Amino acid sequence: MDSLIAFIVSHWVVIMQGVFIASLMLILWIYLPFFWGSPWVPGPYRVIHRMLELADIKPGQTVIDLGAGDGRIVILAALKFNARAVGVEIDPFRCLIAKIWIALLGLRGKAEVRLGDMRRFPVDGADVVTLYLLQGTNQKLKPRLAESLKPGAKVVSHTFSMSGWTPAVIDTRCGIFVYEIGRMDEEIDTKVY
Ligand SMILES: C[S@@+](CC[C@H](N)C(=O)[O-])C[C@H]1O[C@@H](n2cnc3c(N)ncnc32)[C@H](O)[C@@H]1O
Repeated sequence: MDSLIAFIVSHWVVIMQGVFIASLMLILWIYLPFFWGSPWVPGPYRVIHRMLELADIKPGQTVIDLGAGDGRIVILAALKFNARAVGVEIDPFRCLIAKIWIALLGLRGKAEVRLGDMRRFPVDGADVVTLYLLQGTNQKLKPRLAESLKPGAKVVSHTFSMSGWTPAVIDTRCGIFVYEIGRMDEEIDTKVY
């Protein structure tokens, strides 16, 4: 014990430098993707489950998660909702974590997370697109989602709305907005939970 204390005291400066650099790297790892669309804030499982429930996914439908993080939406969509789930994530390490989870859970073939930029990721085959990004990023995605998705496809966003579109469903407790392509005008009757 005494030798450990002596070690810490004699290497105090080096230890503090190490802690500082490690903290800086952690902050960068979490917040750097802000510049590409959103920082990494994993969605709580309760909210993710509710997002997928409100999307009313039928078995075999395709779910695309733009900014997939550690793959939790993709994994839950495949595991609990029998969807074909694809995510795209810009951070290689988070993408690797998602791939490892998918392999460990035996979900290869049903779920995948690809390394890439969601701003260029094709969404045309999706029945459901899930988002947990930022307000401004949602706004930038809107024209592409409206153009590429088929009528009836759902866009489910956590926390941030798609301003200018009227949601088909809002869950105020979980902060979820569900939009249906082709039915986003003011006339629709929004279901509020
Ligand atoms: C708020 S997290 C949401 C993660 C996951 N969808 C969830 O609900 O737990 C946003 C994720 O999007 C990723 N991201 C940010 N910009 C991106 C981009 N341009 N392309 C792909 N992923 C991006 C971040 O690295 C981060 O993992």
